[in-house]
Amino acid sequence: MDDVVAISDLSHLIPAAQTTALLPDTERMAHLRADHWIGYTRAQTAVAKLEEMLIGPPRLRMPNLLIVGPTNNGKSMIIEKFRRRHRPESTPTQDHQIIPVLVMQMPSDPSLTRFYNMVLSALNAPLRPRARVAELEALVLHLMRTTSVRMLVIDELHNMLAGSTAMQREFLNLIRFLGNELRIPIIGVGTRDAYLAIRSDDQLENRFEPFSLPLWEEDEELLALLASFAAVYPLRRPSELHQPEMARYILERTEGTIGEMARLLSHAAVAAIESGTEAITNRTLTLAKYDSPTERRRAFERRIS
Ligand SMILES: Nc1ncnc2c1ncn2[C@@H]1O[C@H](COP(=O)(O)OP(=O)(O)OP(=O)(O)O)[C@@H](O)[C@H]1O
Ligand SMILES: [Mg+2]
Repeated sequence: MDDVVAISDLSHLIPAAQTTALLPDTERMAHLRADHWIGYTRAQTAVAKLEEMLIGPPRLRMPNLLIVGPTNNGKSMIIEKFRRRHRPESTPTQDHQIIPVLVMQMPSDPSLTRFYNMVLSALNAPLRPRARVAELEALVLHLMRTTSVRMLVIDELHNMLAGSTAMQREFLNLIRFLGNELRIPIIGVGTRDAYLAIRSDDQLENRFEPFSLPLWEEDEELLALLASFAAVYPLRRPSELHQPEMARYILERTEGTIGEMARLLSHAAVAAIESGTEAITNRTLTLAKYDSPTERRRAFERRIS
């Protein structure tokens, strides 16, 4: 009965969510476990910036970008969004792919061999864990040219700092070398440590333009973000997430990253379905199975002490 009344007006949802909202509870809950892209202003600016860099003409000194922000704050989602706009394509002869945007991760135990093998893996090429560095370098340059890579994205760039000072220097040289050889923009992505690493090299520092994704604050952008979340979760009644008081509560409880907000809200949305409330309210937020990062850290410390 109740359902029929509630389902009759789904105008609080975006069209795709309206369709999902009609599905049975289990399917709606499965849907809540996946990430759904929200194009908040800063993310859209970042994507536009990457777009601009991708079409820019080759120059002697290619401009690079360093996307910096706290962990769990949407850096990799931006990269993923951009990569999906420039998917790899097959060539007519099918003997190799065209990979406009190559995305790789800095290995957590950085060495040049590991780095080059991460590039090979991003290129879908067979790994060569035992090859020598010089061989790997030549192979990687060759493959990046044949696949027409036009932009290299190195995510988790801060992992560079896990190596010795000498190793860090080698990586800084390597980044400079790749940029010069291939004449493509390089996008570094990481936490503040990535910025510190780049800053230790004068030449690189002035080639990398920083782009920050700071923690969220109580402002109009936050209200807009919360309104967007409310419009994508397939609940049958409108949630009032963009009320300033509600926004303040969410911000405080999650400590200000988009990842934590998404986690809290999706758990609250599950509680809204399970309880039949069908909207995120003060009550469903209390019911949500969610611990803040600090609570999780404390619980972990209790377990190991
Ligand atoms: N644009 C977005 N729209 C919706 N949800 C998002 C968006 N960006 C981030 N999120 C949420 O935040 C989570 C963390 O995002 P992401 O993995 O991009 O963070 P990160 O900054 O790369 O973190 P780390 O430094 O730990 O790698 C995502 O899994 C998703 O739930
Ligand atoms: Mg990431």
